[in-house]
Amino acid sequence: MQIFVRWFLRMSLVWLGVGMLLALIMVFDPARASMLRLAHAHALAAGFVSMMIFGVAYHVLPRFSGRPLESARLAMVHLWAANLGLAGIVAGWLSAGLLPGAWTWLHRGGAVAFALGAALFIYNIWKTLEAPKWNALQQR
Ligand code: HEM
Ligand code: HEM
Repeated sequence: MQIFVRWFLRMSLVWLGVGMLLALIMVFDPARASMLRLAHAHALAAGFVSMMIFGVAYHVLPRFSGRPLESARLAMVHLWAANLGLAGIVAGWLSAGLLPGAWTWLHRGGAVAFALGAALFIYNIWKTLEAPKWNALQQR
């Protein structure tokens, strides 16, 4: 298992922990729900679910496709962009009430980082799904 696969899967579990913690705080203290809801939703949807998909996809899709991942280096950049980006987004939402100015920039920076990471994923997997060379020759 490549290092970025292992860490996408580990970070997915970390985000599951964060999302569930925020969920439990909302369950026991509903007055805080309006402040925590979006941080909770994204820790779980963009954190737990998406990171799990990224990790599993980077491991499994090259094998389905019969060719190596196009770029391990870009996958590593994606790992950092997605996790630092999501941390910025979630921290931005959590601190929205406290530091309105900081919120905007944490949130925007995090969103751009996460989106750039997603663009790398699209490119990397798209290229990886091209038919293996021997197969293309066979089809001619
Ligand atoms: C993958 C799992 C989950 C995802 C993707 C998810 C996503 C969401 C989303 C999108 C909302 C906002 C709903 C709205 O706008 O009305 C929400 C709210 C909420 N979720 Fe989750 N959730 C998950 C699991 C859980 C679990 C397991 C719990 C309980 C332990 C939970 C507790 C809550 C609570 C208390 C709210 C706030 C409701 C309110 O605004 O009063 N969530 N969640
Ligand atoms: C990390 C990049 C992302 C950013 C910057 C982002 C941003 C946002 C914003 C600004 C909203 C509207 C909040 C509002 O109503 O004021 C939203 C809502 C939502 N997003 Fe995301 N999002 C991201 C990723 C995702 C992903 C990957 C998923 C699902 C897999 C997702 C699921 C949702 C859901 C379900 C809602 C509705 C929550 C609610 O109304 O309570 N988001 N997002």
